[in-house]
Amino acid sequence: MFENIDFDSIDLTQAPPEDEPARQYYFIAKCRQYVKAETECSGHALTAAVVTFGCQMNARDSEKLSGILESIGYVLTEDENADFVIYNTCTVRDNANQRVYGRLGHINSLKKKNPHMKTALCGCMMQEPSVIEKIKKSYRFVDLIFGTHNIYKFPELLAEMFESGTGGGDGTHRMIIDIWQETDKIVENLPVERKYPFKSGINIMFGCNNFCSYCIVPYVRGRERSRSPEDILAEIRALAKDGVVEIMLLGQNVNSYGKNLENPVTFARLLKEIEKIEGIERIRFMTSHPKDLSDELIQVMKESEKICRHLHLPLQSGSTRILSAMNRRYTKEQYLSLVEKIRKEIPDIAITTDIIVGFPGEEPSDVDETIDVIKKVQYDNAFTFIYSKRTGTPAASMENQVDEAVVREGFDRLLKVVQDTARKRVARLEGQTLDAIVEEVNEQDDRLLTGRLSNNTIVHFPGDKSLIGRIVPVYLKECHGFYYVGEIQS
Ligand code: SAH
Ligand code: SF4
Ligand code: F3S
Repeated sequence: MFENIDFDSIDLTQAPPEDEPARQYYFIAKCRQYVKAETECSGHALTAAVVTFGCQMNARDSEKLSGILESIGYVLTEDENADFVIYNTCTVRDNANQRVYGRLGHINSLKKKNPHMKTALCGCMMQEPSVIEKIKKSYRFVDLIFGTHNIYKFPELLAEMFESGTGGGDGTHRMIIDIWQETDKIVENLPVERKYPFKSGINIMFGCNNFCSYCIVPYVRGRERSRSPEDILAEIRALAKDGVVEIMLLGQNVNSYGKNLENPVTFARLLKEIEKIEGIERIRFMTSHPKDLSDELIQVMKESEKICRHLHLPLQSGSTRILSAMNRRYTKEQYLSLVEKIRKEIPDIAITTDIIVGFPGEEPSDVDETIDVIKKVQYDNAFTFIYSKRTGTPAASMENQVDEAVVREGFDRLLKVVQDTARKRVARLEGQTLDAIVEEVNEQDDRLLTGRLSNNTIVHFPGDKSLIGRIVPVYLKECHGFYYVGEIQS
């Protein structure tokens, strides 16, 4: 894998190679020279901040961006007052876009104090032409913009940015923009810097083919592409060697993994292969689309020692009429019988979900249907969202958009049921002792550690930070709403 590459031995007098990832290694070597020169010139180590919005997929992409920035010589920081700041954006709901514009306003003021500061934007929001127009007009100081399909080209684009001498505040500023509409390429083996040493996300597929009528993701992430099982297994083996014990397999709809490969493989089969990898103790995945969740998967989960007792199964709506308008391709009854089947086979499983309130045409009686499902399923947690109109999606041009006050009323009513049922459901484990992976020192109280149960519930307990990354048995003393306070059992 890439760790063995000595970037300084790459001959930069030659033309860059055509093949990937060799081409990007070449540009990493080139950027190292720029960063070195700027470091010498400024007299301090150059810092870079990667700021992430959105889902786990974006978080994983940010680890790749961080790995590249580190390999070219930047020191990573969380402080946005850095020499280089990159925003990895999300556009699933409009408030995600608004947050990015707010942050850019702040950067503008930082940049006035430090004219050498460089700014880049990437991710889902950049795939929208109207966003690019707005940035060109109102945020002209941005140095580099790229999208979701060419993230692997980050070293090459950085080299271009350095070469064009942007950011000097001397009138020579040029904004570099490289957005692709689509790609069928998956580039493997680029540097990556994990946020946690003991756990990691792994992309198993990219894009989405489902076109739920409210959702922008298929437009900004492109068509579904699965990585080969060999590449995925090799990556996980390397992670296990490097001390990773918990992995999260990532895709917009992991249940359709492998369907379009030359030699089709099911997601359940992939899981069985991953299960065999020594050193990996916990396997998670997200997200599962209810329409594709197979009996084979339920059996593999049931028999597995390593697959966590948690399933995120987005409902979106409990009304069959709305589900049909959403193009979800299941009914209320099908969803409920799927949950029943899963619970029968794996009784201790925690089920969580996503719900949208205010989809066009939704009536209070549809919200009642959703509440009915929440009561029947008894979710451990549900993420509830107010419908956000995304230009270009079929739902955006539906005429029966719902009045804001009606949406708010439905949302509040639903949220209360979600909270009441989840609180009761999560508390069912009180008095038990279960394994938790120790993730970090508690942010509020440094005498406590924070761990995660197999079913994804959080538990806080006294302990030493040397335990971080270990799996320990924890007595679940008291449930406080959505988390536990406990004690390590020896
Ligand atoms: N692929 C995943 C979801 C990815 S987006 C799945 O199908 O389950 C995460 C969540 O954002 C969705 O489950 C949905 O609940 C919510 N969401 C997507 N588009 C939205 C919109 N236009 N308005 C409000 N919420 C939305
Ligand atoms: Fe969006 Fe639906 Fe694809 Fe999920 S499955 S990303 S909600 S289109
Ligand atoms: Fe957002 Fe893109 Fe994920 S739109 S939710 S970051 S796939």
